[in-house]
Amino acid sequence: MRGTDSQGTSSMRSNEAKQDLLTIDDVTDELPGLIDWAIRIKHDDEALYDFKPLDGLAIGSIYEKPSTRTRVSFEVGVTRLGGQALTLLSGDIQLGKSESIADTASVLSRYLDGITYRCFGHADVEELAKHATVPVINALSDLHHPCQAAADLMTIVEHAERVNGHIAWVGDGNNVLHDLVIGAVSMGHDIKYATPSGFEPDERIISQARSIAEGTGATITGTNDPDEAVSGAGVIYTDVFVSMGEEHAGEKFGAFEGFQVNESLVSNADPDYLFMHCLPAHRGEEVTNAVIDSPNSVVFDQAENRMWAQMSILTYLCNEAAWHAYRELR
Ligand code: CP
Ligand code: NVA
Repeated sequence: MRGTDSQGTSSMRSNEAKQDLLTIDDVTDELPGLIDWAIRIKHDDEALYDFKPLDGLAIGSIYEKPSTRTRVSFEVGVTRLGGQALTLLSGDIQLGKSESIADTASVLSRYLDGITYRCFGHADVEELAKHATVPVINALSDLHHPCQAAADLMTIVEHAERVNGHIAWVGDGNNVLHDLVIGAVSMGHDIKYATPSGFEPDERIISQARSIAEGTGATITGTNDPDEAVSGAGVIYTDVFVSMGEEHAGEKFGAFEGFQVNESLVSNADPDYLFMHCLPAHRGEEVTNAVIDSPNSVVFDQAENRMWAQMSILTYLCNEAAWHAYRELR
């Protein structure tokens, strides 16, 4: 086990500033490279056998909300990279009971080389990152889901030959949309989102995305009309109408009438459109079985790609030298 430096840091980045991933904007410059790396290792059986950049490193993952994809993909991804994965469920640790986020961050930084955190308020993951001396990865907050966006954009790259048109979002202006907009425009994709009135995405995040889009020439269009968003789309993305932790869920549902992604809505999209959903899906609510089970659907590719994209991100944040070495040598 490596010793700690004067900051109590045990990460391989101990002699340099650690980098966190709290929103996808933290890595937009590196995003094409992170995705390229992820696609390469996904198909590199030899590397999966002998490339262990997290050997001797421990990654802890705190969950304050349920998870299937994030939890399993982080645990398996860390193990494949030679590291030790610890899952810390909120009911089992002192955080939120007798210990502050700041103290938890300081303590965990003495044991771990990276921390992933699924929380309610986005300020909580910012607080953890502020006090941790090892990289912190946001594993979903109320405002952001950067690992999802990385996997989604990786999936779009993999299916690029089929994508003839903009990315359309239909549904709630939520955490998944926020990072999708930022990541998509950073890679030059046009995006049109349709949300019910009153459920638009956070205006500060859209402003941030517009600044990024100015540099790439991508366009961002917001509307309350799903047909307008979907017409001519190369990708159609939706998510649940009510996210984890939201209150007044019952009141919210009525606003989403007409926002279900069904065969009628998708009929004006490009015939080869990709249907995307971060999952879990509430079939019969935001999407019909006919759409999510159609040949256009790539939802399980997205789920798988969570693991490969996160393996790239973890290696980049926790052992950057190994990330570059793999990129250059393979
Ligand atoms: N998409 C996603 O984050 O799924 P989980 O909630 O199962 O982790
Ligand atoms: N918007 C959803 C995404 C789940 C992966 C939520 O936050 O519950």
